[in-house]
Amino acid sequence: MKEVLKINNVTKVYGKQTVLDNVSLSLEEGEVIGLIGPNGAGKTTLMKIITKLIKKYDGDVYINDENIKNNKRHDTKQIGCVIETPGFYPELTGYENLLFFSEISGLKDKGEINEIVKRLGIESYVNKKAKNYSLGMKQRIGIAQAVLSYPPILILDEPTNGLDPAIVPQLREFIKYIAKEKHTTVLISSHILSEIELMCDKVAFIQQGKIIKVESLKKSEKDTALVAFVTSKLEELKKFFNGKNLEYKVLSEDKLEAQLKINELENLISSIGKENIPLRGVYEIKESLEEKYLKTMGVEKNA
Ligand SMILES: Nc1ncnc2c1ncn2[C@@H]1O[C@H](COP(=O)(O)OP(=O)(O)OP(=O)(O)O)[C@@H](O)[C@H]1O
Ligand SMILES: [Mg+2]
Repeated sequence: MKEVLKINNVTKVYGKQTVLDNVSLSLEEGEVIGLIGPNGAGKTTLMKIITKLIKKYDGDVYINDENIKNNKRHDTKQIGCVIETPGFYPELTGYENLLFFSEISGLKDKGEINEIVKRLGIESYVNKKAKNYSLGMKQRIGIAQAVLSYPPILILDEPTNGLDPAIVPQLREFIKYIAKEKHTTVLISSHILSEIELMCDKVAFIQQGKIIKVESLKKSEKDTALVAFVTSKLEELKKFFNGKNLEYKVLSEDKLEAQLKINELENLISSIGKENIPLRGVYEIKESLEEKYLKTMGVEKNA
């Protein structure tokens, strides 16, 4: 797959605070990546750097192998973004705003505007003046504007903020559509982890300015699984795991869980059998993104 966006050791300091600390991340064509982390972790700052809204930082950002610091061209063709509340001409309608932006981004085919308006479900108010829009309406017109010219990269900072839940699935389908059909690479931040889980191929966990983990959400790319083992001889099973230097967590008097390499699982289970440790059950524990998030960020549930 083609690498479209490469972030290389980016560090951003405000006064004494290191807001981004040596951040590196690579995004491939047509990939949807979720950027998740606590308030103040640095998500918006990173997005502003990629979109050149922040110009002073250490490290480098490459779009299609070109360092954005050297790229003096107008970037509207390279990146579409919605960061914070999008700005519109208040006296123009949403449609007129979109027309205006399509002209500055050099979009020839005006039929594309109607296609995007339809797919985002904004027909009912696209002819209203922008000054009368609600927050959710602005968000969706902002997204329409960002994708008008189908840029190779789309950056969305909390796009579901202010959207009513009934609209969210349509937005999710739209994002999947432009990634798969238009090969757009999408970097998206959200605090709604269930949303991220449904639309992203990959997630990057960010905490205090550091990317602490990048994980694929695609089943086919997973190489480890969280597996539960149920046995009447828990002490013997613990000894077995200790002997193999495998980390585990005891869940109850007859059960433990371990994060294991999928391709080593069959051998492991037969070794347990050879030691005559009875197993009543072995099953994969499906973790939600929220559970992974709480673990990764070091916040234990019920703690
Ligand atoms: N212009 C600025 N001057 C000084 N500090 C700033 C500035 N902008 C952001 N910060 C600080 O940088 C840190 C990261 O902020 P950022 O907005 O990137 O976080 P975030 O991950 O987007 O958080 P949220 O989830 O709340 O949107 C915060 O501690 C914030 O206070
Ligand atoms: Mg933010």
